[in-house]
Amino acid sequence: MGIIFQENTGEFHLYNGQISYLMKILRNGQLGQLYFGKKIPPKEDYGYLLENRYRPASAYVFDNDYSFSLEHLKQEYPAYGTTDFRMPALEILQPNGSRITDFQYVSHKIYKGKPALKGLPATYTESEEEADTLELLLRDELLQIEMTLVYTIFRQENAIARSVRFENKGTAACQITRAMSLSLDLSDADYEWIQFSGAWGRERYVKTRVLQQGIQSVNSTRGGSGHFHNPFVMLKRPTADEFQGEVMGFSLVYSGNFLAQAEVDTYDVTRMMIGINPFGFSWQLEPEKEFQTPEAVMVYSAEGMNGMSQTFHRLYRTRLARGYWRDRERPVLINNWEATYFDFTEEKLLDIARTAKEDGVELFVLDDGWFGTRYGETSGLGDWTPNLKRLPDGIKGLSEKIEALGLKFGLWFELEMVNKDSDLYRSHPDWIIQTPGRHASHGRKQYVLDFSRKEVVDHIYEMVAALLREAKISYIKWDMNRYITECFSQAYEAKRQGEIFHRYILGVYELYDRLNREFPQILFESCASGGGRFDPGLLYYAPQCWTSDDSDGLERQKIQYGTSYVYPISSMGAHVSITPNHQLNRITPLKTRGYVAAFGAFGYELDLARLTPEEREIVREQIRFVKKYRKLIHTGTFYRLLSPFEGNFTAWMVVSQDRRQAIVAYFKTLNDVNREYRRLRLKGLDQSLIYHMSEEGKGQREFYGSELMNIGIITTDASAGEIPQGEEPCCDFWSRMIILEAE
Ligand code: DGJ
Repeated sequence: MGIIFQENTGEFHLYNGQISYLMKILRNGQLGQLYFGKKIPPKEDYGYLLENRYRPASAYVFDNDYSFSLEHLKQEYPAYGTTDFRMPALEILQPNGSRITDFQYVSHKIYKGKPALKGLPATYTESEEEADTLELLLRDELLQIEMTLVYTIFRQENAIARSVRFENKGTAACQITRAMSLSLDLSDADYEWIQFSGAWGRERYVKTRVLQQGIQSVNSTRGGSGHFHNPFVMLKRPTADEFQGEVMGFSLVYSGNFLAQAEVDTYDVTRMMIGINPFGFSWQLEPEKEFQTPEAVMVYSAEGMNGMSQTFHRLYRTRLARGYWRDRERPVLINNWEATYFDFTEEKLLDIARTAKEDGVELFVLDDGWFGTRYGETSGLGDWTPNLKRLPDGIKGLSEKIEALGLKFGLWFELEMVNKDSDLYRSHPDWIIQTPGRHASHGRKQYVLDFSRKEVVDHIYEMVAALLREAKISYIKWDMNRYITECFSQAYEAKRQGEIFHRYILGVYELYDRLNREFPQILFESCASGGGRFDPGLLYYAPQCWTSDDSDGLERQKIQYGTSYVYPISSMGAHVSITPNHQLNRITPLKTRGYVAAFGAFGYELDLARLTPEEREIVREQIRFVKKYRKLIHTGTFYRLLSPFEGNFTAWMVVSQDRRQAIVAYFKTLNDVNREYRRLRLKGLDQSLIYHMSEEGKGQREFYGSELMNIGIITTDASAGEIPQGEEPCCDFWSRMIILEAE
């Protein structure tokens, strides 16, 4: 395991027990890509994988030599215009207007462990033995700019983390206009491209298309990763499925504008890349200054999409998320938003909290509306001091009263925003992002603070930290409810305006980081009008994220299913809300809402006092269940079994690390009658163990792991035939939760 450099052939081989990644120094000093996939043995010469012999080229690198062209060659970090005509990973605008570069290999370093990225979130190691890193230094002699390609291969995971650093060692400033975090040329195009797209209320739906010649991509231009496309895509072989076959996942650890793209040339070479969206981006690289790209993580799985997801889950849960809450059981919370919206008094909040405490809730979260003159959407954002008309003893007083009830207290903020009707805006009207001389568009009557400016971030930090220092706050929901328009910062000169989107995100990270450091025991949950900024970047600072404003029991099956392709179960904020559901008016059984939310960071989004006594009993049972099993659900191995995007049923399960416990959730969308016999084959159990299977309303039964995996659980339901004695007939949006415990 490790990283090998073959002196004679100039080849680098990164490998662990499962995967290999190979590169080679080319004849022109640039880097070629040889292979990424299942492990192959170390060997001195894999040069034949360059495959550049039989294709005619239209341009050649060396004089009087028709054997070397970059036109169809697989490259490591390609630039445009020196015989390669595909979209590049890199582009630098130079003082004379040229964009041609030539980065050639200079040296490399191989070491154990993994370096941190300055100012940016990234995966990490806890001991040097967990990973090996290769830093490849390349230089453009004419510009005297150095580029370091950094690769970390994890020893126990099929994952490689990559990033790129530029340093200007010359005397002239240049502008980086494109610097992807990862570029990977693959030797064929026999893949399906799977992206995770949607909108508010339906985030991260699974969308599949066959990879075609030409360019296919998803991106964000909104200043945040966005509801619309996630900074994550998969390439999978057409024959691969959830359980077998080759799948690659590409995930960007970043919360701003991104581009994920695959270009297939007419020889079916596929160039996959992911990084900061080059649209609207430029970075002025002054002499002696550096630029660091965000990190991208690529995972290879020979065990289908579940295999890939399990790698991302482990890596992101334990080596991206950090801090006090990383491994701790997350509190069952109640949030007042859908119970009251802006219409609350302190008495009302305390009533909600008191009832919740009776049922076993552990944390009360006060959402929007507690500060400044915030009685609705139009005012108050930016004034992070309590509204004493509503909360006579302030947040300090309320937090103490909540703690006296035996609950922890959490608070909502939207720190990146300001309303024009606020003291903050009145004192600093120039602190919003807006283009001089142009109209400033609003979103929800709010404007985006210019977080590219240090003084703005400092000011917000001081305001929030003062409150956190005096009140008893255990949890923060960090919301962000609009995207950036008319992007421009008054603090930067013209040539730096292309940096503002990125500098803004760096400012967000800086604020998170400072709050994490001063208040390490506060649990942060990120949010952006639901799941509009559910990305790995924020997981580094906030181990959970509000998955969607849509908490309907059926819609959430799709949203959480799609989200689970890359993000761990522990990261998905998932709440039970009232019916008819506030987003789409649907009525689903309380049990189903609970079973779906149990596969997330669990909570409630309603006033429990409005439920019937029977419903309250169900709630108590849900909370008992979550407290008993949340550790297993959050740390176990998760398997998607049946996709809500493909039929009337959804199923998933989680298996403990020792494979002695498992929980299966099974959902049926619409009831059907007198239908076929059905079975659900389970995964990940121990073939030889006997499992006790228990389920509400049914007696215990015993099965071998091999029975459950090879034959499956009979899921033929009551509506498909005669209803057995004592069983409830099923209904629309029906669900089952099955517990398996080994003898
Ligand atoms: C959007 C969030 O997604 C909601 O949960 C809630 O916090 C509102 N903002 C409050 O304005």
